[in-house]
Parts: sequence; structure tokens; C-alpha cells
Amino acid sequence: MEKPLRVILGAGLLVIAGCQGGKVAQPPNCPEAPANWDQHSASRPWLVAVSHVDMDLELDFEARRLHGTAVYSLQRTDPGAPLILDVADLDGISVWGPEGQPREFSLSAPQERIGQALVIELHAADQAVTVRWSTRPGGEALQWLGPEQTASTLQPFMYSQGQAILTRSWLPIQDTPGNRVSWSAEVSAPRELRVVMSGEGTGAQEIPGNPGRLLWQHELSLPVPPYLIALACGRLERRAISPRVAIFAEPATIDLAADELADLDAMLVTAEQLFGPYRWGRYDVLVLPPAFPYGGMENPLLTFVNPTILAGDRSLISLIAHELAHSWSGNLVTNETWEDFWLNEGFTVYCEQRIIEALYGVPRSNMEKALARTELLAEMETLEPWQTVLAIDLEGHHPDMGFSWVPYEKGALLLRRIEELVGREDVDEFLRGWFEGRAFRSASTADFEEYLLHGLSELRPGAMANLDLDLWLRGPGLPDDAPQAVSEPLLMVDAAVSRLIAGTDPGEIETADWNTFQWLRMIHGLRQDAGPELLESLDLRFDLTSTGNAEVLCAWLELGIKGGYEGVQQRLEEFLLTVGRRKYLVPLYSALCASPEGRTRARHIYAQARPLYHAVSTATLDTLIYD
Ligand code: BES
Ligand code: ZN
Repeated sequence: MEKPLRVILGAGLLVIAGCQGGKVAQPPNCPEAPANWDQHSASRPWLVAVSHVDMDLELDFEARRLHGTAVYSLQRTDPGAPLILDVADLDGISVWGPEGQPREFSLSAPQERIGQALVIELHAADQAVTVRWSTRPGGEALQWLGPEQTASTLQPFMYSQGQAILTRSWLPIQDTPGNRVSWSAEVSAPRELRVVMSGEGTGAQEIPGNPGRLLWQHELSLPVPPYLIALACGRLERRAISPRVAIFAEPATIDLAADELADLDAMLVTAEQLFGPYRWGRYDVLVLPPAFPYGGMENPLLTFVNPTILAGDRSLISLIAHELAHSWSGNLVTNETWEDFWLNEGFTVYCEQRIIEALYGVPRSNMEKALARTELLAEMETLEPWQTVLAIDLEGHHPDMGFSWVPYEKGALLLRRIEELVGREDVDEFLRGWFEGRAFRSASTADFEEYLLHGLSELRPGAMANLDLDLWLRGPGLPDDAPQAVSEPLLMVDAAVSRLIAGTDPGEIETADWNTFQWLRMIHGLRQDAGPELLESLDLRFDLTSTGNAEVLCAWLELGIKGGYEGVQQRLEEFLLTVGRRKYLVPLYSALCASPEGRTRARHIYAQARPLYHAVSTATLDTLIYD
């Protein structure tokens, strides 16, 4: 093959055929561009779109690099326009035409955490192009774990996290949720490891002349936004739960995981009854090592979860209900840009709560709803007003700046408010119509307004007269008509908390039948008032520092730090040195950083722990700890 041509354009300036020139990530200013343009992607799929990507990937654990070659099938609307892909932290990029001749390309200047535009000049007849690249060890999506970070401590592990705009750091792609691709992949990995992906696995093959490795095949013919293309590789065992559900986990974790998730098929049946047919075929769950920065990620056909959800008593199962619900809200109907993120998460929390109610009853669902609302209100106090708006304006911000309880819980409260106004039957029809009518497409906040006001209002004339939709979507804070779930078991805990604060001995509080949500309520209730003596007496009585429930433990450790209770320090350090879930790390490190001695301690622990965390977590923690 000839050497490909490479031109670097200066200062991030791009000239895009069919459009006015302009800086990457500034409005395209061209008539064909969609109204709801994605400012976090340089791609222009309305001019040239990738419809399928066929990947050849090699996982190099020693170098902590993925080497890739991908063939992109193109749909060209504007014959003069280049193909623009998003890339970040990639090395050795080269581009080839269908017959193996080099294609001219250029890279814009890198923007921090956004990446670069890879602009490929196409020939008139090109219906496909090939790109080669290698990832950098520091790229954001992939985490390469040493054996000591796994349960077995025997083999390394790697996995990807694509949402929101990280896929571009392992796969050059039009990385916008407004465009969908089907894909196929062959991944070469060391023989003792298994490769899993967010698609259908079609087995592994020998590689002639390379007995140390196997080639794993996966494909997904259903089109998905690029943030939902995911892979993982490690020493994994597979355990079937039902004909269409299986668990993948490390051998040391598989029994616990299979037991905790034994009801998954029933959950899937319930979800289908509520939201319409499950369109993806299989629903498998991959239990990752605890370094995973989220609790769960809804990769299609293969939800990724953090092992901290395995509490041993199925009390944290709503997280699985949440990721499963994304099979409709998010994966089937996808937020068009990251400013529409509340459509993914708000709908999903609403659907998650419906699944929990159907499977476990109203009292449990009300407990979870009441706790979540309290969390939302507490977090809103710490956010800037613009971050508390559902239809968020992310101009000049990374999508992560819109990540809070707001899109989740305020979004779900809006849907619950609508349910209060129109009744459950109509809201069910509304939901099923939304998922059916927009299946495998994206949706914007404007689409939601249009569908709500024309669809639901026609079904129930006048029902929505009292809903100030504009205030809900574009106003800060929580509107006064936000529903409030009442939970008797939590009210009982509130009464117990008042007694504890007034000096009642913990031994006199009747906690024998308390569940996880009640313990969480108690710990939250003590947030303002607990000093070291009370915390010590609670710990002596209830042994909270030894709990195996990660939600309860994290809340307790935070309370312990804030209340100056030394008894939590050792467990805190162990926790911070093994668990990488950002939702836990942020409150714990923040609580430490509130005092000068605590900040020194936080910096000391973080120096040791940082190499063990995913880039998603370190991006947030670096600012928290060093600023
Ligand atoms: N899709 C999200 C995770 C996500 C959001 C990753 C935005 C990157 C950017 C996932 O469905 C999620 O919401 N996970 C939550 C659990 C949920 C029950 C609130 C988590 O990981 O804590
Ligand atoms: Zn979610």
C-alpha cells in the first residue's frame, strides 16, 4: 500500500464542504443541518453518514493499547462533502479507499475532553473507507486493569465506557447520539480471556499461526448510537438464568451474581407488559470489577454493572430495573443531543419505578421514590441554577456538567405529574406510543413537547391545562406541583431519628425488621446532627461500619467523616482503594476535603488510589481534590 497523506489544519479551523467554514463544535450554519444540532460532535451526518462499521480489533494488554482497523459504509447526501469522524487520544491514524489506496485526511487541533475532527476527503465513487488507529494508554473510554484489581487477581481486565462522548477515544466514529450505526467486530485477545460486547456473540475462532490468542466475533444489525458500542475482556464465566438471560462475571463473583439476579427474566416479562416488546433478543448482564465508574451502564444486550450492586439480599435490584428500562428509553428512543439527556434518564427512572412497583409493590416503590426526591432536593442546593433545568443549555460545557439527579429525578417527577393529571391508562398508552413511534430513532425535548401536547392532550382534552410545561422543562429548581410519595416505613424512621437526636439510647430503637431504605433514611436523617459519641454508640449497636451493602456503607462513611467519628477510617480507606464508582467517591472525598486535616488525608489516599480509577472518576476528582 502507498503511504496515506496526512495534513494537519491549523488552530482548529475546518472548512466543511456544503457549509460555511467555522470552528469545530460551533453551529454548522448550513441549511441542511438539523435544528437540534449536537455541539459535542464535529461530525455532519446529514452530509455523509456512517451506516455500518466493521471492526478488526486487537487487544494489547502489555502496551495497554487497542489496535483497530474499521471499514465504514457510507450514505452520502452531499457528494462534495468530506466524511468527518470524531476521534480523541488516538495514535497512528491512516485512511484508505475501498481498493486500498490512501485517502487524504486532516485532523483539527485537539480540544480537551472533546477530541478532534478527523476530516476525510472522499473520492466520487467511495461508498466505504477504511481507517486504522491505535488507542493511547491514557484515552478516556478504555480502562486497563492489572490482575490485582480483579477478584481472581490472576489475569488483567479491560472494558470500555462510551457514554457520553468517550467512544471516540477507542473508535473513530460520528460520535453523536443523533446518528445510529449497525456494527460487526472481530476482536483478538489472549486465549485465557473472554471478549464480550454489546451485540450478539457468534463465538471464537483460532488464529492461524497464533496459538496464544483467539478471535471473538460479535455483531449488532440493529442500529445504535455510538455511545452504546461497548466491549470488555477478562477472565469471565457465563451462567444462564433463562433462555434469554445470562450473567457474565469473574469466577469468584458468578455465584453471588447469579443468585442476586435470579429474577431477571421475570423483570423482563414485567417490563414488556408495561412498555411493549423487548426488541433486542438477549438480555445479559456483565459484572465488572469494582473500578467501574458507574453503578450500571445500559449497553444493548449486555448491561454493564458494578459489583457493589450485589448486596446479597437483592435490595439494590432497582439499578438493574433501571438499566433494563433503558432498553426502551435511551436505547430504542435516544436523546438526540446531550442537552436532551433528561429524555433518556427521566423516562428511565419513571419506567424503573413502574417495574419496581409491579414486581415488589407500592410501599417499596414509594420508599425509593421518597428517598430519591430527598436526594434531588439536597443536591439542587449545591448546583448552579442552570444545572437544575431539564432542557439544559450545555453551550461551552462538557456533557458531564449536566450529570446530576436533575435529569433523572426531576425528569421522572414530570412524568409522574403527567400521570397524576391524565391517569395511568393514558400515560401507559402515551409511553408505548412514544417507544413504538420513535423506535431506533432519536428524540429531542421539542419532539417530547409536540407529542405530549398533541398526542396526550387529544386523548384527554383539558387534562394538561394545569401543567406549566415550560416551567418544568426550562425553569430552574423543582416546581411546586412535583409529586411527593408518602412512605409510612420511612416516617417511622424519621420518628426514630428524632428520638436519637434527643438522646434516646440506640438500643431502645426497634430496628429488627428495617430494610436498606430505612437504614439509608436513618443515616440521611442524622446528616446535620450526629457527633462522634452518637455515631460510636450507633456503630456499637448496629455494626454499620461492617455492612456489606455499598449504599448503606457509603452513606455511613460519609456521615462518619462529617461527624468526626474515627471508627470509620480504616474501612473508608479500604473502600476508596478498591471501589471506583464515582457516585460513592465524590461524596466521600468531598466530606474529607471539608477540613484541612481531612484534605491532607484525602490527598494521601487519592495519590495511591488514582491509578486504580477510571478516567471518568479522575476527571471529576482531580478538580475536587487539587483545586
Ligand atoms: N446511562 C447511565 C450512566 C451514564 C450516564 C454514564 C451519563 C455516562 C453518562 C446509567 O443508566 C445510570 O443512570 N446509572 C446509574 C444508576 C441509576 C439507577 C441511577 C448509576 O450508575 O449510578
Ligand atoms: Zn440511566
